[in-house]
Parts: sequence; structure tokens; C-alpha cells
Amino acid sequence: MAEFCNSLLRGSVPVSVVHFAAFCARYFACMKHYLDVAENAARTAGHLLRQNFHRPLRVSSAEAHDIKLEIDVQTQELITRLLLKEFPQHALYGEEGIVGDQSSPHQWVVDPLDGTVNYFYRIPHFCVSIALRFEGEVIVGVIYDPMREEMWSGQKGEEPRLNGQHFRVSNRADLAQAVISVGLSKTGAMIDSNAPLLQEMIHRARKCRLMGSAALDMAYVACGRFDAYIEQGISLWDVAAGWILVETAGGRVDLRPRQDMKNKYSIVASNGVIDLKL
Ligand code: IPD
Repeated sequence: MAEFCNSLLRGSVPVSVVHFAAFCARYFACMKHYLDVAENAARTAGHLLRQNFHRPLRVSSAEAHDIKLEIDVQTQELITRLLLKEFPQHALYGEEGIVGDQSSPHQWVVDPLDGTVNYFYRIPHFCVSIALRFEGEVIVGVIYDPMREEMWSGQKGEEPRLNGQHFRVSNRADLAQAVISVGLSKTGAMIDSNAPLLQEMIHRARKCRLMGSAALDMAYVACGRFDAYIEQGISLWDVAAGWILVETAGGRVDLRPRQDMKNKYSIVASNGVIDLKL
């Protein structure tokens, strides 16, 4: 089944020898399995985060503009168990470490707690973000906000859903009427490079927002709450799930690797019609 699904994703199935209906049914069953497992892992992880939200937290490390908590690691371990129990051949690339053979065609990209600083300060704006890449392309993405019980889920070629309901990006084209989220990232150098952008956008847009969770910023662009999200210096796990949500909701994602920082990216995610004048 998995091998068959891989061939479909590569577009290398000899359609002439396969009955088309059976071909589609197996493909959709395979994708649904990925999505169901991802949603279940995100919900279970979100439950753990919600349970611990008001409890004392252990800090593993703290820097000027960032905090790492023990619960980040515990949550990733939980997600890893749930994903790899179902798909033992797959690899996992997460904020709290990697598991398995990273050259495997299937790689789960996980941020167990996006918005760790919010979580630590008891600001109820954080989420679990889980994406599945096949040969480098994101094919499934889920983002779960456990405080508001909002689950965004998307897969390649399908309209995405928020708690089961389809959604689209906004259609605002005029920056003067737009709400734009700007991320400042977490190092002094990245703050210096994001701050001028924020300064410009504050004057051009109706409102700018700094919410502290890149994955939720992406989810909010996808479902039309924000018109765009911009940040320099993010990691793949922050935005992988949101990437497919924004694109399948009709928006555009421009994700560029940074030359000056390994495994870091600059991102502009938008509804696809707004002129950000960047
Ligand atoms: C951070 C948040 C924040 C963004 C940073 C991310 P973390 O992720 O998404 O909004 O500005 O770039 O690193 O550390 O809370 O998972």
C-alpha cells in the first residue's frame, strides 16, 4: 500500500494497467491515513500541553530572547511515538531533535510547541504543528491550537479544513486595509533585520501583529484572519504545516533559505493577491 502510494505521489504509476477508480481509492486511503495519524498526534500532544498550562514548568535553557522548556521535549517524544508507531520506516525532523534515517522519502516535520515563550508566560497562544514531506515536498499539514480547540488540516490537492469546515485565504488586495503579522525571530541579529520591516509595515498596513507563534500566523493567513505573515530567520518546523495550508487555501508562500544561517529561512506567506510593496 505504502509503495503504491509513493508511486502515485511520484506520478509514476502505469495508469493503463490499473483500474482508475481503484487507483484513486487507494491513494486517498493512504493520504487519509497520514492525515488521521497526524491529527490524532496533534490532538494528543495538545491535550498534554493544555493539562500542563497552569502547572509549574521546568526551563531547560534560557537566552535573551528565547526559552526552552522540558515540556517541548516531552511533547515531541509523545508525537514521535504516535507517528512512528504507525509509520516505522519514516523519519522525523523536529525542533527537539531528529529520529530515523533523514534520507527516507517520508519525513515528518514537527514543532511540538510553537510559541514556547507565550506558553511559559501563560499567554494562551501556541500550537502543535505537524507536517509530512514526501521527497522534500509537504503533502500533509496539521496545526492544532489546544486552548481554542482549533484544528487546521490540509493535504496536497485538497481544500483544507478548520474543525471540518473548508476555508480560503482573504481577498484583500489593498495593503492599507490589511492585517499583517510580522515575526521578529529570536536572535539579536534577526531582530535587527526584522525590525525595519515591521517599522515600514506598521505605517502601510491597517494593523501589524506580533503574536509569537509562526505556525499560528500561517494558519491565520490560510483561513483569512491575517492577510500576510512575514519573518526572517525561521526554521522549517515553524512553517512546514502552514505552508500546505496557505497554498491549498489559495494563498502564496515564498520560503527562501538564508545564505547567512544554516537551516534558517525567510518567509512571506500571503493571500496571493495583496501587494506588500516589499
Ligand atoms: C518561534 C515562534 C515565534 C517566531 C520564532 C519561532 P518556538 O518558535 O514561532 O513566533 O518568531 O521565529 O522560532 O521557538 O516558539 O517554537
